[in-house]
Amino acid sequence: MNNIKNYILNNKSRFLEELADLLRIPSVSTAPEHIADVAHCASFVAEHIRAAGIDDVTIYPTKGHPIVYAEYKCSRPNAPTVLFYGHYDVQPVDPLNLWTNPPFEPTFRDGKVFARGATDDKGQIFLHIKALESYLKVNGELPVNVKLLIEGEEEIGSVHLEEFIRTHQDLLKCDTVVVSDTPIYAPGVPSLVYGLRGLCYMEVTITGPNRDLHSGSFGGAVQNPVNALCDMIATLKDGYGRITIPGFYDDVLPLTQEERTDYASLPFDEEEYRTQLEIPFTFGEFGYSTLERISARPTLDVNGILGGFTGVGAKTVLPSIAKAKISMRLVPNQDSDDIAQKFQEYLKTIAPPTVKVEIVNHHGANPVLTPRDSMGMNAARVALREAYNKEPVLTREGGSIPVCLLFDTILHAPTVLMGFGLSTENAHSPDEHFLLDNFEKGIIATAAFYDEMGKQSI
Ligand code: BES
Ligand code: MN
Ligand code: MN
Repeated sequence: MNNIKNYILNNKSRFLEELADLLRIPSVSTAPEHIADVAHCASFVAEHIRAAGIDDVTIYPTKGHPIVYAEYKCSRPNAPTVLFYGHYDVQPVDPLNLWTNPPFEPTFRDGKVFARGATDDKGQIFLHIKALESYLKVNGELPVNVKLLIEGEEEIGSVHLEEFIRTHQDLLKCDTVVVSDTPIYAPGVPSLVYGLRGLCYMEVTITGPNRDLHSGSFGGAVQNPVNALCDMIATLKDGYGRITIPGFYDDVLPLTQEERTDYASLPFDEEEYRTQLEIPFTFGEFGYSTLERISARPTLDVNGILGGFTGVGAKTVLPSIAKAKISMRLVPNQDSDDIAQKFQEYLKTIAPPTVKVEIVNHHGANPVLTPRDSMGMNAARVALREAYNKEPVLTREGGSIPVCLLFDTILHAPTVLMGFGLSTENAHSPDEHFLLDNFEKGIIATAAFYDEMGKQSI
């Protein structure tokens, strides 16, 4: 590992320049005006994989954004195969005015790089590419087979990846999947994540009268759709923070005693958490700790609400339409489609007869639990110890990676969630950044992971 560490040290400034080039590409997958940028980003990623010393690189077009796929075949017989998954697409940048520097003009400050996609997920995919480069340049060859699957639609629900995985099962055959798209527990505290929440994202439109009305002339006789929507939203949770949709908790896997003990032993400062967020109290489901609430229990949140007059000043109006975007984070073994259906049915029953209700199901994701013990997990443990000089903690995370469950159900391979971000790095929000120390340690850990997996035979 010392030679690899030296190589990283000697090439660090070039690595960072190249990372900045990647971060400069506005690969916002949800925005039609960025289609060409997303495609350009795929080519950029493919080219850098080639430059790392891997010749077999293909860009697969999809009905949406392209998938970058690459393969390295090792000469050792019976060597295990590692499939790395990550995404090169990013979230939109709004609100733009809250960025200190423009989101696609990467800036290095305080040991961090600031740009959209820095931590989610470009910094993390790039560290894998640099680990491959470092390993190959120093040792000439890898002790394992490596497959890389890097997509451009994760942030919009990985809409075309399922079909790709189903139709390329042989190509993607592997012994372990590695994903670097999650945070470590805290700076200096490496983590292996073994659980992710799923997502069910709904949009509710309530229509009242056929046009906006003068609230003096009509108010009192006509149901206001904004009021009606708020009433409906208010009944979705009870006073104990529990979701009231019938059957919502039917498939929820309870936390085991071992998990609850693990949660309780993690260093967590509730006061510091509140101070950081400037909130007087935390809020959530009765009977669970903050860490449990944000990762192992389901939630329901209004992401946005729209309706009526929201401009400066006052306008007396009884609006015709109200909309809410409502998402639910799901936990094993809830199913996104099943919850969507339960949500729709329940909303129809609580809607007053005075309004019309329409519900659209946006993208979803299913929750996952990955094995806490596997060949990959054990190798990752050693690798993280090598990079951080510290034993990694096992955690569950509250975010979602739509494709994760498919690695298990279609490829029958266990997933190792070995991420290098921090939950405080403003993913999806202004001033997103990535700690350069974790970029570097991520390269070391990934190289050490190859070493460790290389000791195994299949
Ligand atoms: N990298 C995140 C997932 C994540 C976030 C894992 C925080 C663990 C902790 C991923 O890019 C993401 O943002 N996923 C979306 C999924 C969605 C768009 C279907 C999410 O969780 O909102
Ligand atoms: Mn991500
Ligand atoms: Mn994301």
